[in-house]
Amino acid sequence: MNDTPVVDRSLVALLRADLTAAGFTVDGVAERLGPVASAALHREQPLPALLATESSVTSVDDACGVLVRLFTLGRRVRASALAAALPSLGVDGAVRLGLVRLEGRAGFAADRGAPPDRDVLATCDLRPYGDDAHDWWVASDLSELAVGGPLRPDHVLGIGGASTTLASWTVRRPVDRALDLGTGCGVQALHLTGHVGSIVATDISERALAYAAFNVALAASEGVGAVPEVELLAGDLLDPVAGQQFSLVVSNPPFVITPRDEGVPLYEYRDGGRAGDTLVRSLVRQVGSVLEPGGIAQFLGNWEVPAGRTWREVWGEWLDEQARDGVALDAWVIQRESQDPAEYAELWARDGGAQPGSEAHSLMYAAWLRDFASRGVEQVGFGVVTLQRPATDRAPWRSLDEAHGPVAAPMGPAVDAGLRARTWLAEHSDGDVLDVAWSCAPDVTEERHGVPGAEDPSVILVRQGGGLGRVVRAGTLLAAYLGVADGELTAGAALDAIATVLGLDPADVRAEVLPQVRDLVADGLLV
Ligand SMILES: C[S@@+](CC[C@H](N)C(=O)[O-])C[C@H]1O[C@@H](n2cnc3c(N)ncnc32)[C@H](O)[C@@H]1O
Repeated sequence: MNDTPVVDRSLVALLRADLTAAGFTVDGVAERLGPVASAALHREQPLPALLATESSVTSVDDACGVLVRLFTLGRRVRASALAAALPSLGVDGAVRLGLVRLEGRAGFAADRGAPPDRDVLATCDLRPYGDDAHDWWVASDLSELAVGGPLRPDHVLGIGGASTTLASWTVRRPVDRALDLGTGCGVQALHLTGHVGSIVATDISERALAYAAFNVALAASEGVGAVPEVELLAGDLLDPVAGQQFSLVVSNPPFVITPRDEGVPLYEYRDGGRAGDTLVRSLVRQVGSVLEPGGIAQFLGNWEVPAGRTWREVWGEWLDEQARDGVALDAWVIQRESQDPAEYAELWARDGGAQPGSEAHSLMYAAWLRDFASRGVEQVGFGVVTLQRPATDRAPWRSLDEAHGPVAAPMGPAVDAGLRARTWLAEHSDGDVLDVAWSCAPDVTEERHGVPGAEDPSVILVRQGGGLGRVVRAGTLLAAYLGVADGELTAGAALDAIATVLGLDPADVRAEVLPQVRDLVADGLLV
């Protein structure tokens, strides 16, 4: 049985026209549900949205409500209501696209004397999605909310927190060729259509590729204008694109560390079937082989940190291994979160539908703890990885940073600027850095803290409003330099003047402040 949507281009075009006319867009749904139900749905609490769409079940003049109830909440609606919501596609067209099925039993007629009205149920989740410039729709398997129980192992995931994180952090330079590895429902590929000439999207799951094909067809259907081709290829990790080169590779890979234990289901969407963090480590080792000079790979991942080691040591080893195997890459790893084994087990044993307190949940929880204990794992890091193949013959740079707080949204422009700044720093000497008249970025502010009544502050904090939201504690010399960094005076001249005023040796001032200037340039506090 075909259990994924079907790409029938003429029907897809009718669907698109109907969804648009229904106002079934991100803003339209938010307006239809109202702020409380919308926010609750984001927290995966459907009840307020169910109450808000109760009357939609039979309504013939609430297209958006009918579509939300059917496709997002996974509830029955009357065929007459769906027919009114999709006037050009019709219920029959929706059945032929593989989006809904008619229930066998007849419901109540809307009016006395009218023919009995059947119920319709969605066979997949379909919801609006977009960025600043596009309205898209994304079909995926019905969510846990709609299924009301554990998911099937080959479940095709819709848009989740990890999808939007990667989309936000992606560098959106206009480029010729990009790869979306582990495309799932195709969400990253949709984003790539906005700035990439041609796109290859791969997945190990044929069902995922069928969903991606449908979603790309819906995004590119008649009347939308030119949309780049997306070539869909099946296979494991980089196998389907061996020998090819890309300017950009993005991947939200199946990075979840999962015990290889009979009691723990292997969900294809989150688990690449390897032990521990092997899948992410392999990606680090191999991705350079498909990057053109200057090309960038960005992906999310988890990494195990065994007792007695730091996450930076773990990454140091991974990157050394990468450099031994191929062209050494620049690496910018930003750890966003660190969890102990129990926190990690609680998160992932729950994902997929097992209820905390149930026997199935407890068995999985224990399996995760045993698995981590077998490798001596004390912490599990999560973060965003950006690797770059140097465009010139120079030594690669490494930046292993932590940012646990809020960051800019979207974060891509800051990553782009950070890559360019780090690359410039790698290619320029300390003398070159001192020759530049840097200025404080407009989003940088200074906070002075001191004991009440004190003339001088005891702590000076320099805070970045955007980007990684860095907060740097500045000593007297750095604070003095930032106070005059307005793009007029070179850093060298400014530091020498500060040394003269304070009666210090200029060489000592440069030695203290220069590494700090490099650090602030890297993260865009000095530009
Ligand atoms: C977390 S989902 C990401 C989906 C989508 N790209 C996103 O950002 O939401 C991971 C995807 O990787 C696929 N996958 C799992 N193992 C894989 C492998 N060994 N090679 C390629 N893709 C794989 C899964 O089928 C799934 O679609």
